[in-house]
Amino acid sequence: GEALRVALAGLGTVGAGVIKLIDANRTLIKRRAGRGIEIVAVSARDRARDRGVDLSRFDWTDDTASLASRADVDAVVELIGGSDGPALTLARAAIASGKAFVTANKAMIAHHGLELAEAAEEAGIAFKYEAAVAGGIPVIKGLREGAAANEISRVYGILNGTCNFILTTMEAEGRDFAEVLADAQRLGYAEADPSFDIDGVDAAHKLSILASLAFGTRIDFGAVAITGIRDVLAIDIAEAQALGFRVRLVGVGEAGPGGLFQRVHPCLVPVTHPLAHVTSSLNAIVAEGNFVGRLFFEGRGAGEGPTASAVVADLIDIARGEGGPAFAMPVASLAAPEIAQAGER
Ligand code: HSE
Repeated sequence: GEALRVALAGLGTVGAGVIKLIDANRTLIKRRAGRGIEIVAVSARDRARDRGVDLSRFDWTDDTASLASRADVDAVVELIGGSDGPALTLARAAIASGKAFVTANKAMIAHHGLELAEAAEEAGIAFKYEAAVAGGIPVIKGLREGAAANEISRVYGILNGTCNFILTTMEAEGRDFAEVLADAQRLGYAEADPSFDIDGVDAAHKLSILASLAFGTRIDFGAVAITGIRDVLAIDIAEAQALGFRVRLVGVGEAGPGGLFQRVHPCLVPVTHPLAHVTSSLNAIVAEGNFVGRLFFEGRGAGEGPTASAVVADLIDIARGEGGPAFAMPVASLAAPEIAQAGER
């Protein structure tokens, strides 16, 4: 068949990774997708920056929203970031123009994912966001498809690589938070403004998406109780270790008799639990289903190769014409979390 023609908005680490991956695995992708996947147009703020890829073969624009209306584009990939602004403008425009839409933007999904998915469902087009949660780990597909037949009681995990790097380095070296954070920033693990990571907001974005998938409820980011890792002391970690625990920033979504609870906070994890062995900047997610039992997903939650893998996997799904709702079921059928909290589950 004819190639799937793609427009790419945002050429940071992940955008460059998508180009490199499609170049390197072109033949394999074409065989698996049943047709080629070709980038035709790109947009980014800075054209001159060296990204280690040849960009001269693509149409270039700095008018990001214009990608949505191009007649020679079938699918738009948004890698700009930010919950609102140009990313959201592009998402709305792409869906309104009937383009399949792929994003890695957890903040936008947490805040506007339902609106966007509903518009995509009404228009009958694909809306995909595997890369938005835990980078290269296929946990959206794992829950949405793999665990589709199960009642899930709990979904929880290590959803922020920066925090896990900081906590596990504090643990290994007995050093203080501020010192390790400064190192993480120097090494490029943490952002210059790391507050979304260390205050737990990034993990909460991801948790709210996972909870929606696991419980079939509407995304409710505002209901997540959030505590970050700023106040974790080296002595806390040492004392936890002496008692047989490790400290990890964990996001938990739990369906209890009182309803759905969502929270992100530093946890004492017993050394016997698989999450205790997730070190450095890795991510991991556990889901407990009534027929499948305990599922454990682990891998790299950020970075060029892993996140690009998730983006291109979504494009392959689109090229194959695989459909279905973006979340656990069509948006109009998702339960309000308030209903769960009133005890209907
Ligand atoms: N800043 C995130 C993390 C990466 O540290 O896990 C992608 O969300």
